[in-house]
Amino acid sequence: MTSLASTRKILLGITGGIAAYKSPDLVRRLREQGAQVQVVMTRGAQEFITEQTLQAVSGLPVRSELWDHAAEAAMGHIELARWADEILIAPATADFIARLANGFANDLLSTLCLATRAPISIAPAMNQAMWAHPATQANVVLLKQRGVRVLGPAEGEQACGDVGLGRMLEPAELAAWLMPTQREKLLSGIKAVVTAGPTRERIDPVRFITNRSSGKMGFAVAEALYAAGAEVVLVSGPVHLNALAGIERINVETADEMLAAVQSQLVNAQLFVATAAVSDYRAATVATSKIKKTADALSLDLARTPDILATVGASVNPPFLVGFAAETDNVECNALIKLNSKRLDMIAANKVGDGLGFDKDDNALTVYWHGGQREMCLCNKRDLAKQLVQLIAERYREKHPASN
Ligand code: C5P
Repeated sequence: MTSLASTRKILLGITGGIAAYKSPDLVRRLREQGAQVQVVMTRGAQEFITEQTLQAVSGLPVRSELWDHAAEAAMGHIELARWADEILIAPATADFIARLANGFANDLLSTLCLATRAPISIAPAMNQAMWAHPATQANVVLLKQRGVRVLGPAEGEQACGDVGLGRMLEPAELAAWLMPTQREKLLSGIKAVVTAGPTRERIDPVRFITNRSSGKMGFAVAEALYAAGAEVVLVSGPVHLNALAGIERINVETADEMLAAVQSQLVNAQLFVATAAVSDYRAATVATSKIKKTADALSLDLARTPDILATVGASVNPPFLVGFAAETDNVECNALIKLNSKRLDMIAANKVGDGLGFDKDDNALTVYWHGGQREMCLCNKRDLAKQLVQLIAERYREKHPASN
């Protein structure tokens, strides 16, 4: 079988930070796993590392100038933007992050980022105070909302002597994020279906009922399952997130559509993780034209939407079922009721409200199963998803020892 990695074309953008000294190692690791790596450097990057070094390790001429006629004749910047399967900016400085967030196109790398359709990942690297600055944080939030994947930064000692968040992730970690060959075997051979995001229930042609779910937890779970070797189908309500290449994504709007997509995908699946915040009610009848504001008060008749997870739980021979319970109070009690009533194998419960849960990057979970529970402390949803997937694999293997 040809590995996916062997055809992967990665455009590595290097910007001007001290962590650029690690770039040759990153290029080497990506190439070792079969990727083609085209390096593009900013002026700042050239202060830290030479083109010659990167050309030698990448095996391709390094690009740095927007107006380099000879290089443009070989492959113009738009062609370069189309060539890439994935763009990784590592290290990504505060300045480059700001330019990317604002859509600048005043050098080759920023222009490529605007012109490409390829997914973009950034590995921030900067002094901890610069990383913590509200301007940088606002830029990072904006980029994430646009689907840019932010890898790191890590915490630790910095070149400037400070200690804190701002170190670039190590080349091995970055290569692991980018290359599908790095997938573990924990869940290989397993097909997993994941629901994510909110649903949208129409009231009339312009209005709908929905909720604050961002889809971040579901997307993180789908990524972690994929990284653990599972085949993943992600059934998502309307969200502003990109899924990793390799994950099959089905976009839906309503609870009915989500149920239909889930049922068709579950036919040959062994695992179902329901992270979606499915709207509990929909308009009993959807108005065909816009409802006018003529009356002083208006009542809307609502009808229940299908409970997707409970429907799957009640089916003959259900897959391994993992539910989520977002609760404002009595978290444990409510989670345990759902574990039993929806016939789940596991439920991951978290407190929402008071700034917790929805639309945040961090979360904390308590996971319950029949006969056990585990606390997962407040951390990034991606890290949390990895811990959760580890636990899912443990419980799944215990239930199906023959699949070990
Ligand atoms: O909304 P509730 O607290 O009951 O959600 C618990 C679990 O059930 C979650 O995993 C959610 O994705 C799932 N659910 C569902 N369909 C619904 C409501 C909830 O799949 N209509």
